[in-house]
Amino acid sequence: MDDWRDRIESLREGALAELAGAGDAEALERWRVAYLGRRGALTETLRGLSSLPAEQRPAAGQAANEAKRALEAALAAHEAGLRARALAENLERERLDVTLPGRPPVRGRLHPTTIVLREITGFFRSLGYQVVEGPEVELDNYNFEMLNIPANHPARDMWDTLYVRPPDVLLRTHTSPMQARVMEAAVAAAREAGTDPPPIRVVVPGRCYRYEAQDATHEWMFYQVEGLAVDEGITMADLKGTLFAFARHLFGSKVKIRFRCDYFPFVEPGVDMSISTPDLRGGAWLEIMGAGMVHPRVLRMAGYDPDRYTGFAFGLGPERVAMPKYGISDIRTFYANDPRFLEQFTS
Ligand code: DAH
Repeated sequence: MDDWRDRIESLREGALAELAGAGDAEALERWRVAYLGRRGALTETLRGLSSLPAEQRPAAGQAANEAKRALEAALAAHEAGLRARALAENLERERLDVTLPGRPPVRGRLHPTTIVLREITGFFRSLGYQVVEGPEVELDNYNFEMLNIPANHPARDMWDTLYVRPPDVLLRTHTSPMQARVMEAAVAAAREAGTDPPPIRVVVPGRCYRYEAQDATHEWMFYQVEGLAVDEGITMADLKGTLFAFARHLFGSKVKIRFRCDYFPFVEPGVDMSISTPDLRGGAWLEIMGAGMVHPRVLRMAGYDPDRYTGFAFGLGPERVAMPKYGISDIRTFYANDPRFLEQFTS
C-alpha cells in the first residue's frame, strides 16, 4: 500500500475518533483548528503531497480532498447533533406546566374615603356645584382671620393647630379657609372684568390636620368636604332643602335629618346636622356636619356686600359618613394602611 494512502487514512480515522469525543462547542472548535485549520493536520498533509512523484499526485490529492470533505461533513453533523442535544436538555430543564392555574394579579380597591368623597362630590356636581381644592399648608389669615376667628379669640381653642411656621403658616384645621379663598378670587376676577361678584356654588374636598389626642373617633389627619353657596336671596330654607336632598342621596329615602343650634364663628346662625335611618345603627342620631348661614363679616372681609348677598356653608367629615355606612368602629383604621381593612370596601 502506498505510504500517502496510509497517512491520509489514519489521519481521517484518528480525526473521526477524536471528533466523537468532542462534547461541546469549544471542543469542536479546537478539533476544527487541529485538523481543518490553516495549520491543521490535513492541510499539512496536503502540503506534503507536493513532494510525491508527479504521477502519484493527482490520486493523492483527490484522496486528501475527499478526506477533507468527509471531515467537514462529520463536523457539521456532530455540531448539529450537539445543538439538538442542548436544545432537548434545555426543553427538559425549563419545562413549563401550562396547565397549572395562573396567579391572579392583585387588584387594588378604592379607599372607603375615596368612595364616599366621590359620592358626595358627585351629588353636588349634579346640583351644579364646582369641585375645587385648596392648599393643605395654609395661612393663618385664611384658616382663621377671614373666617371671623381673630387672634386671641377664645374660638381658636376649637381647633388644635399644627403650625408649620408660627405664627402665620399652619396645616389647615378645616377646609373652611377655601370659603374665603374662593370668594376673594371671585371678587378679584369680577373687579378685573368690571362686573358684580358672581354667585358661588362650590364643594371642597380635602385633608385637614389637628394636634389631637387620637382615639376611636379622632384622628390627627382626616378629610372634610366644605360647601359654599353665595347668591342674592339665599335663605336658611335653601340650606335645609339642599342638605336634606344630600342626606337622601347618601342614606336613602327613609332618612330623617335634625338641625340643632351650634356655634361656628363663620356662620350665623350655626347648626349641626344629624341623620337617622333605621338601616344605620338602629336609627340612632348621627352627627355628620356643621353648617349655617355665612356670617356677614365673612362675606364683607372677602369682598361680598352682605346687604346684597347671603349664603350658606357646611362642612362634613367623609369618615363620619363612611363609619356607619360600612360599620367601621375605629377612625384610626382608615389611614393605618392595613390591607385587611382596605380590601373590604366596594362602592
Ligand atoms: N369647619 C368646621 C369644623 O372644622 C365645620 C363647619 C361648620 C364648616 C360649619 C362649615 C360650617 O362650613 O358652616 O369644625
